[in-house]
Amino acid sequence: MKFFVDTADVQAIAELNDLGMVDGVTTNPSLILKSGRDILEVTKEICGIVSGPVSAEVVALKADEMIAEGRKLAAIAPNIAVKVPLTWDGLKTCKVLSGEGFMVNVTLCFSANQALLAAKAGATFISPFIGRLDDINMDGLDLIGDIRTIYDNYDFKTQILAASIRTANHVKDCALIGADVVTAPPSVIKALASHVLTDKGLEQFMADWAKTGQKIL
Ligand code: E4P
Repeated sequence: MKFFVDTADVQAIAELNDLGMVDGVTTNPSLILKSGRDILEVTKEICGIVSGPVSAEVVALKADEMIAEGRKLAAIAPNIAVKVPLTWDGLKTCKVLSGEGFMVNVTLCFSANQALLAAKAGATFISPFIGRLDDINMDGLDLIGDIRTIYDNYDFKTQILAASIRTANHVKDCALIGADVVTAPPSVIKALASHVLTDKGLEQFMADWAKTGQKIL
């Protein structure tokens, strides 16, 4: 399973990338706002750090404008995936831009039928939002499972990019279900390394080691 990092924080991306933990990056208008940076500048900088797909989202609502914005974003670097919302205009944009050879990430997906449409429109990635479904007492992981089954039934090549990941358990469950990619904030990726028994065990080993009076270096 590939790990994308869900942020426009260049420092956080570089740190995780140095560890080999970043197969790609996803951004959205809220993350650009949080970064305080210009979208074109920060996206270009991210594309210089990460060789995998970097999603940059259009903000127009009509297909013609979305297509123009998508072409401009795609011109930033060859590894840009143009991110479009799962609306009818977004699907039109997906069809046109994927036909021109660009990677397209269809975002804000909350149902299996939406995911089916995105695959038929030629999406490279579909982004079902798990956490936001959980927030309204629906099961985001059920959606990942449904999309996996549907895509496998018909051999769709669109990759399932599980998004709105809030916990380490979301990552594990997505891996078990067979999502192709998870995109998670840096804090969640770092949290994958934590276990209370690791901390406890290390504390015990350090205490016993001190009692030996030995040194390795
Ligand atoms: C995905 O591409 C989105 O940027 C992101 O995962 C949304 O997550 P949120 O629901 O935590 O804002």
